[in-house]
Amino acid sequence: MGTKKNSLIFGTRIGLLGGGQLARMLALKGQELGLEMHVLSPQASDPAAQVTRHWHQGSPDHAEDLASFFRQVDVVTVESEFHEATSLASAEKSSGTKLFPSAQNLGTLQDRLPQKDLLKASGLRTAPFFAVDTWADMDRAFEAFKGAFVLKKRRGGYDGYGTFIVRSKKDLERLKISFDPTQSPCIAEAFVPFVRELALVVARNPQGEIAVLPLVETHQVDSRLDWLKGPVRHPGLKTLQKGLEKFLKKIDYVGTIAFELFETKDRLLWINEVAPRVHNSGHYSLEAVEMDQFRLHLMAILGKSLTAELSVKAFAMTNLIGSGAATPEAPENLTGHLHWYGKNESRKGRKMGHVTYVGASSSALLKKALKERKGFKL
Ligand SMILES: Nc1ncnc2c1ncn2[C@@H]1O[C@H](COP(=O)(O)OP(=O)(O)O)[C@@H](O)[C@H]1O
Ligand SMILES: [Mg+2]
Repeated sequence: MGTKKNSLIFGTRIGLLGGGQLARMLALKGQELGLEMHVLSPQASDPAAQVTRHWHQGSPDHAEDLASFFRQVDVVTVESEFHEATSLASAEKSSGTKLFPSAQNLGTLQDRLPQKDLLKASGLRTAPFFAVDTWADMDRAFEAFKGAFVLKKRRGGYDGYGTFIVRSKKDLERLKISFDPTQSPCIAEAFVPFVRELALVVARNPQGEIAVLPLVETHQVDSRLDWLKGPVRHPGLKTLQKGLEKFLKKIDYVGTIAFELFETKDRLLWINEVAPRVHNSGHYSLEAVEMDQFRLHLMAILGKSLTAELSVKAFAMTNLIGSGAATPEAPENLTGHLHWYGKNESRKGRKMGHVTYVGASSSALLKKALKERKGFKL
């Protein structure tokens, strides 16, 4: 691999575990840079499989597929944090091929309990929480958090799947009918009365160099990112950044990582959750930042230098969420930068693509973005 710190060796084989839209955007970016992008996924029609000649049929959750894939590439990374960490570690060991982020980091961050423990131990501000394994724990959460808490499955949750908000006794009763905590371990955390949600994407290389993307405001509908805009200037950003830097150093994190945040009335920033990978809230960077989150991730795992200068004044992005259209369509006179993920079918709630707008004013861009989105058939 790299002889000089910043020389990129064309043809370096990068292995991506998974074939979704995040892997697709990583593959496309890597190809632009002259890297050989390999994808391990079940179907040739998977979004990332479609864009590379180096598709390997198989599953990242299957130990043998994993071990064989690791042997055929120079470095491996993930688009999802949810693969079994022990299988990842043993594939890494038997092949001698490095995985970034490390299996240990993925193992810790894929489970909300150790993730929150780690945030707390690192002195980062996050809602108080405790483990919920029994019906009694659920009642205890209602008491401890004064009738407003959020129950979250420890593993496998995303886009609101596995997250339940309780704000009344009635909510609690309803939750108890539909959900059994003895079957899937959870955490309960205090409901944070946020004024808005924000996100910060950061990348770190093995030398400890860090690049921080602009802070963005995110808007969730049904717990799923719907739009974002930025950059957001915030008085608490510097302190947060320092804390995150310490956190990443402590766990020796390598790659891109996303922090979802709450902002409360008093302008405090709280960490909601951490995603050890490229993230939907960083997609805008493809058009708005010199080194976008995908390039940053690839540079970081190859041990190269990182920078994240904003290259425009402002930006906005909308997600294109499926509603089950048989033949999705884009409007004729779309002005935003369209990224369509090539999913085999539109389903309700499925992320089908996104559109980015860059210019002078983020609120004007968002207005245009929301208007143009109405012209899509999804
Ligand atoms: N402690 C909380 N207080 C208030 N709202 C919350 C809390 N935790 C989560 N939410 C809401 O639920 C959404 C989804 O929860 P999150 O923990 O981000 O799970 P997911 O992995 O599904 O994104 C958040 O974006 C936020 O809108
Ligand atoms: Mg989230």
